[in-house]
Amino acid sequence: MIRDPRGVLLKITMVAAAFLLLPAALWPADGRKLFRERCAGCHGSDARGSGKGPGLAGNPRLSGQSVEQLRDMVQRGAPNAGMPAFDLPPEELDAVASYVRSLNAGVTVGPAAGIQDTWGKPEPGDWLTYNGNLSANRYSGLKQIHRGNVGGLRLKWIFPIPYYGLEVTPLEAGGVMYVTGPNQVYAIDALTGNQIWKYSRPQTQGLDGDASLGTNRGVAIRDDKVFYETDNAHLLALSRATGELVWEKTMPEEPQHYGGTMAPLVVKDTVIAGVSGADEGIRGFIACYRAETGELLWRHWTVPRKGERGSETWQGSEPLRGGGSTWLTGSYDEATDTLYWPTGNPFPDGDDRDRGGDNLFTNCILALDPRTGELKWHYQFTPHDVRDRDATEPPVLVDATYRGKPRKLLLHADRNGFFYVLDRTNGELLLARPFLRRVDWAAEIAPDGRPRVTTPKGCPDDAANWSSAAFSPVTRLFYFLALEECTGSPLGYPDQTGQRFLRALNIETGKIVWEVPQPEAAKAKTWSGVLATAGGVVFYGKPNGGFEAVDERDGKALWRFETNVRMKASPMTFEVQGKQYVAVAAGPNILCFGL
Ligand code: HEC
Repeated sequence: MIRDPRGVLLKITMVAAAFLLLPAALWPADGRKLFRERCAGCHGSDARGSGKGPGLAGNPRLSGQSVEQLRDMVQRGAPNAGMPAFDLPPEELDAVASYVRSLNAGVTVGPAAGIQDTWGKPEPGDWLTYNGNLSANRYSGLKQIHRGNVGGLRLKWIFPIPYYGLEVTPLEAGGVMYVTGPNQVYAIDALTGNQIWKYSRPQTQGLDGDASLGTNRGVAIRDDKVFYETDNAHLLALSRATGELVWEKTMPEEPQHYGGTMAPLVVKDTVIAGVSGADEGIRGFIACYRAETGELLWRHWTVPRKGERGSETWQGSEPLRGGGSTWLTGSYDEATDTLYWPTGNPFPDGDDRDRGGDNLFTNCILALDPRTGELKWHYQFTPHDVRDRDATEPPVLVDATYRGKPRKLLLHADRNGFFYVLDRTNGELLLARPFLRRVDWAAEIAPDGRPRVTTPKGCPDDAANWSSAAFSPVTRLFYFLALEECTGSPLGYPDQTGQRFLRALNIETGKIVWEVPQPEAAKAKTWSGVLATAGGVVFYGKPNGGFEAVDERDGKALWRFETNVRMKASPMTFEVQGKQYVAVAAGPNILCFGL
């Protein structure tokens, strides 16, 4: 079945495998393993060459070659020159050719070249970091796919991962894509979806919360390394060429209920990551490591110890497990050299008897010095939270003329139902306005930045969450998914049905400019994210599994693909060999679309 010439049965088998968790033998051929068995004898186990064959890694003769060209070379060989012809099944030829191609990812000619030099100002064709760029605006400069032709988008390939409910945003650099599942990292050929290498270890027993469910949102890359956080909050550096473990660091200082679910962030020569677990009780922190060696450079705690700044905002026992988790990738601004990181709820979230006060630095945005981890300023969205209102929604950095003045802004649609615009140089509040029809926990956010709380346990339930938002410099609109829901409020609103909306906000006023209701799946508890592109198209996942493209100007539907599985991940886009693609995780599959 697996060698069906039309590939149809193979695809069905692959999709079925993802559901049935079939053994590894039925998985697509592993290029790295084949290389070790068939090629390493002459080309060296590190592909750097031997007396019997030339080096294939970082080989400029190979960097411009496609998988097809490399496959032909391996199939035909050069018998007179000492390179045997290989009569292998097509999927093995593809896998080993994809692997050889990946060895040259770093020297690819074209916009993806030299990833180590492009951090902070990525080429438009690559998707080098969780949010595509460090500002987290999820806006891609690619425009080959545009309003006029997006209707012709077709599925190009599927890559299944044995986990239902992927939350990963794929990364792409030099034609290689990096995706993750629970304690699993894959490098795959971005043009074919063929696996190049895989790193995996068993899921950790005895964890709590999202980490125990296998949630993971992706990797970071820099130079020759891929960075990944395991379910038990170990930070790994893997070899970008082979997937082998280079270094491993246990992030927490002591066990507690820490988990790892997030995609780390590379800033210059460091890698920064946070932890999950505040619903079960942890003392949150953000930690920064030297990318090359894994040396810990700093750790910033989100909950103070006795006597430290902010400890006066915890009245009661010392909050040794006060929460404030850091499980969403932050953003970074090169101009002011500042790291922006959102924090989660206090612990225990519904019981505030032993934690009077504001409970800093939970539900905050923290502006940190990326070299020292020192706090420059903070802004707390929901002081003294009693309703699990993590501020772990994307901190989107935008430079724009705002109310007639050029400003450095931070845009954020919070789980408490307000849309915020802050001056990101100092944390000053410029705008806070409800983005839902009913928000009753606070009457307003006062000009001094503090909410005027009326009903602490009031609406909404879960207004926005971690999934990506996007900002287009062309329309100047902020795009995100909102949930109109209020079931737990003491005031009660029987008409609140839990309906989701794709919304576009005017950032000057916070008003809704247009919206696309999602009536089909009122109760689906999933969050996909949003991507905006220079082609004028906004992509997002619907709670019912539709992957949709809409017009950035008015939300008009332009194209849709029915995945028929729950979408919990945010889309991305990239360009390889002059062609633009859009990829998204849906259920157990990575789907890649192109024209
Ligand atoms: C018996 C030794 C041997 C084995 C086994 C072997 N090769 Fe080669 N390979 C060579 C030699 C020698 C050359 C150089 C040929 C030439 O000069 O034209 C070569 C050339 C190549 C090239 C072109 C390199 C260039 O710089 O143009 C590629 C690609 C390649 N091999 C891939 C593979 C792959 C993939 C495998 C395993 C499936 C493999 N080879 C197995 C000996 C070997």
